[in-house]
Amino acid sequence: MFRKLKIELILINLILTSLVLITIFSGIYILMKKSFDHSSYMRMVKTAEMENLPPSPPERNLTPSDSFFIKIDRSGAVREISSNSIITRDSSYNVIEKILKDNKDKGIITYKSYKLRYLEIAKPYGRIIVFVDKSFDNEVLRRLIMISILVCIISLVLVFIISLFLANVSLKPVMTAWERQKAFVADASHELRTPLAVITTNLDIVLDNREYSVESQKKWLGNVKLETTRMTKLIEALLFIARSDSSKTSFSKNEFNLSNAVVQSVQPFEAVAIQSGIKIISKVEPDIFLKGTEGRIKQLIAILIDNAIKHTRSGDTVTIKTTMVKSRIQITVSDTGEGIPREHLSKIFDRFYKVDKSRAKREGSFGLGLSIAKCIVEEHNGIIDVLSEVGKGTEFRVVFETKKVLQ
Ligand SMILES: Nc1ncnc2c1ncn2[C@@H]1O[C@H](COP(=O)(O)OP(=O)(O)OP(=O)(O)O)[C@@H](O)[C@H]1O
Ligand SMILES: [Mg+2]
Repeated sequence: MFRKLKIELILINLILTSLVLITIFSGIYILMKKSFDHSSYMRMVKTAEMENLPPSPPERNLTPSDSFFIKIDRSGAVREISSNSIITRDSSYNVIEKILKDNKDKGIITYKSYKLRYLEIAKPYGRIIVFVDKSFDNEVLRRLIMISILVCIISLVLVFIISLFLANVSLKPVMTAWERQKAFVADASHELRTPLAVITTNLDIVLDNREYSVESQKKWLGNVKLETTRMTKLIEALLFIARSDSSKTSFSKNEFNLSNAVVQSVQPFEAVAIQSGIKIISKVEPDIFLKGTEGRIKQLIAILIDNAIKHTRSGDTVTIKTTMVKSRIQITVSDTGEGIPREHLSKIFDRFYKVDKSRAKREGSFGLGLSIAKCIVEEHNGIIDVLSEVGKGTEFRVVFETKKVLQ
């Protein structure tokens, strides 16, 4: 698909360049031809008016600017031939006959290897026919055509190389986005396949045992319910990401109390933490305000706390800190848990990325939490990064520059 697009882009560039070059060179050709015609005509008119030319030395060849004439009297006999004429007296009758036959007062005739322009003007004694050699003009025009062809070929080669380079550069982000999208759809289908398979298998068992009561088949129906819930969660996450991709800034922006939002986001996790023996410490500076979507910021905090609790054990601590220094708001969610190996750190914000795949499968995790968190932070023009050491813990840091946020 991209190969075809690249070829099309290059072809369009080549066709456009060819059209431009052909127009320019045709213009130059026509202008030069017209100017040669005009200057020859003017020279011939002048010669016809002056009626005499300085005698040229016999060994001298005719130059492009030279004109010569033949005067004929009323009876058609040759009266005088200019001394620089290349037409001999013998052959002059043939030439004159041809010109008179043409019945035009100016034109072009061939004499031996020469192409001669002529101009015929009536005079009191008869008429004068002035000639100018055209071969020099033809040579210049022939060279112009050769140079034009050469310039066209060189330009087209250069345009081809430049277009190829530009097409590669400009299509690269599109190709990356396309590949990402393809991987996203493939991962999403893969994630949906597992719950669907579980649902189908469990429903098959129930249908195979129609005579048994719902109560006795509670286990299979429970599995169906669990997987349906899991699927709903996944579809919601997918929808969220798809919407963030299509409209980065189309959500409503209001100034809200970020401090309260953070405190409210921590509360639902307190019971879970107590149950698991994890200590939650919340250090939130009061009355920090942010312009954005409160619901999404709460979702961001929840994702980070959820991860922190999932990856810590009894006795560990999860700390949520919110501070504001000048116009910079910083939210950190840190834990004293297992940490993330260094080689995974750059990938954990990718969609569907899980450090421990089998564990994620067991826990029903999709690897979408942090990519959603990143979307939310970017929607608010902020940045999110992570510091982690295996065995010591992890810290996620979110920074918003309030001056920059959604003006
Ligand atoms: N606080 C943390 N400590 C250790 N590892 C973490 C922490 N937060 C995230 N991770 C690692 O980063 C990976 C990606 O996290 P993310 O939240 O995107 O996905 P998930 O938690 O596996 O699934 P989901 O959030 O979609 O249910 C996780 O698989 C986990 O291994
Ligand atoms: Mg998560």
